[in-house]
Amino acid sequence: MTPPNLTSAPVGESTERPPDPTPKTKWPRYVEAVIGYSEHWYPAAFSDELEEGGVVAVTLLGKNILLTRTDGQARAISDRCAHRGVKFSAKPLCLKKDTVTCWYHGWTYDLEDGQLIDILTSPGSSTIGQVTIPVYATEEAKGIIFVFVGEAEPHPLRADVPPGFLDPDTYVRGIRRRVQSNWRLGAENGIDNTHAFIHRDSPLIPGNNLALPLGLVASAGHDHRASTTVVNNKDEWPKGVIDHFGDGAYLPVFDAKIKGETVLSYLPQPGAKRVVNTLSLWLPCAIKVDPWPDPALISYEFYVPVNKSEHEYFQLIQSKVSSESDIENFCREFEDRWTDLALHGFNDDDVFAREATEEFYADGNGWRDEHLFGPDHSIVRWRQLCSKHGREIAR
Ligand code: FES
Ligand code: FE2
Repeated sequence: MTPPNLTSAPVGESTERPPDPTPKTKWPRYVEAVIGYSEHWYPAAFSDELEEGGVVAVTLLGKNILLTRTDGQARAISDRCAHRGVKFSAKPLCLKKDTVTCWYHGWTYDLEDGQLIDILTSPGSSTIGQVTIPVYATEEAKGIIFVFVGEAEPHPLRADVPPGFLDPDTYVRGIRRRVQSNWRLGAENGIDNTHAFIHRDSPLIPGNNLALPLGLVASAGHDHRASTTVVNNKDEWPKGVIDHFGDGAYLPVFDAKIKGETVLSYLPQPGAKRVVNTLSLWLPCAIKVDPWPDPALISYEFYVPVNKSEHEYFQLIQSKVSSESDIENFCREFEDRWTDLALHGFNDDDVFAREATEEFYADGNGWRDEHLFGPDHSIVRWRQLCSKHGREIAR
């Protein structure tokens, strides 16, 4: 399948185009999914951010949600009082276990089902019992609180995370931060086959002696599209797009030329380590890089939709462990080495690229005016997968 060129017009200089919220594309449900797909699980916060009796405010798919913890159990309830619409998190007030009380006029809700069970300023009010606000299912795994954003009965969490993420003999550490771009630009940057170019001066490359090419070309006799597989069988979840880099279909570009003259040369150092045998992107919004940032580690990233122009970027590294001391060693390495060198030293380049891309797509015209080329085929397949299988377009 040839990646479509959706426009005959060149990409213009001006960004002042009339908004086209629903341009004609081959992935209409993807273009429409401005704030993602509901009826899926999303990471909301790290478990250690939410202490017993504490609260954490998050925004998922445009919904303000308050996380709380009672008796060790994480709970999620709409962070919006039904009375006058203020956020509970503006002045959190939990006066009794399993309840949240609004700081303004004392409306008090049950965390279990969101029902208004009392009004501290108007005891006996006939409104009590007549109002409910949304609550959300939660599940904690690998040190992360996941929230099911949807109305249907939640399916198992494993359907919405990359294969291997929940493996029992592994430990995960990570960070999260807000990025000023739509979630789709995060996901697409992750699986973009030629974007390694932006990382060429990353301190991670010499710092961990990695062989990271500037780009990739299909090797002779190979159609590079054949190295991409799509997991989209009817009942199989998670569904995703997998790029296989270790099968000889690609030749790395270390020497960049303009009209035959070398202008950039980034040849790997002797003994440089090979990484990224596979790169895969999974519904609703997670990438898996195997291995990365070292041959002994695997990385995962979630691009969680916050609103139309922001996503929460979860950057996670997973290590195989078989003992407490393995966990301690990995945690030390994570803090001393990988946070600075990989999660910032490398991924800050990705954040820069996504935020720089936002302007072009923000009004909806970018999906029509972009000019994709061959190596973008993984992005095309991802869009098609989402368009077909993303559960519900979030509103
Ligand atoms: Fe919440 Fe009035 S706004 S109780
Ligand atoms: Fe990147």
